[in-house]
Amino acid sequence: MRTFKSLLFIFIFSFFSYNGTAAERTHELLNPEWSFKGFFGKFDRASPQRGYQVYTEVCAACHSMKYLSYRNLSEPGGPEFTKEQAKIIASQFEVTDGPNSDGEMFTRAARLSDNFVGPYENMQAATAANGGAYPPDMSVLVKARKGGADYIYSLLLGYEEPPEGIVLDDGVYYNKYMAGNKIKMSNPLSDGIVEYLDGTPATEDQMAKDVTSFLAWAAEPHLEARHKIGFRALIYLFIMTILVYFSMKKLWSRIESKI
Ligand code: HEC
Repeated sequence: MRTFKSLLFIFIFSFFSYNGTAAERTHELLNPEWSFKGFFGKFDRASPQRGYQVYTEVCAACHSMKYLSYRNLSEPGGPEFTKEQAKIIASQFEVTDGPNSDGEMFTRAARLSDNFVGPYENMQAATAANGGAYPPDMSVLVKARKGGADYIYSLLLGYEEPPEGIVLDDGVYYNKYMAGNKIKMSNPLSDGIVEYLDGTPATEDQMAKDVTSFLAWAAEPHLEARHKIGFRALIYLFIMTILVYFSMKKLWSRIESKI
């Protein structure tokens, strides 16, 4: 009887703790048509370019992307700014360099070879400035989160009034796609928060899509090259199959004619 009771207890406990794990996602992710998904997937060039604008004007106030360098912005496969444009972008940031011949550090404008300049000196400063939550580095965030691009996109559009009965502390927001539904990042997007250089209307949905494309490229800069290689490999295999088939036929034809 005792074993039964403890088993029952464990069962009930695990049942409730399963339901109660705040970490479970409660909503299906939004799933827009990404041009870069699928076998022939490619980035729609203008989208990651606009996405860079959203990142730099909005997200970069809190999130670093320290594994990207300004040079990457002009490399094939991503936003594909021209080299000149990438140089101008870089020159708007300041980096600490040195020491110089007097043994002192100095600041200078960033160059193509420099990594993206982050908003904070270190993780602690970033966490302290954001109410105890660390804004994660976004270089490979699309790869690091389950659901990838769909998740980032959904999260950006997932802010809602909390359902009745849920009380949020100061600096905590309700987001239906965040694990546990509570996030310490206020909604970073609102219609028109950036003015796109190419004239595209900057709706929340558009910005969420563009910045997600940019982040998807950053997390997988060789995606297009990989798709191209995959396609070539398939053509190669196809031709090989035909060749092998005909040479087999030829080989066997001699043997068959003897039987
Ligand atoms: C004012 C600062 C701030 C800005 C601006 C900001 N974020 Fe955040 N972000 C945060 C903080 C802080 C967290 C950590 C939240 C937490 O763990 O509760 C976060 C977390 C995230 C996460 C991770 C959620 C998870 O699953 O852990 C994503 C994705 C994200 N931000 C995307 C963006 C994007 C895209 C932008 C720009 C459009 C942006 N953020 C702008 C502060 C900011």
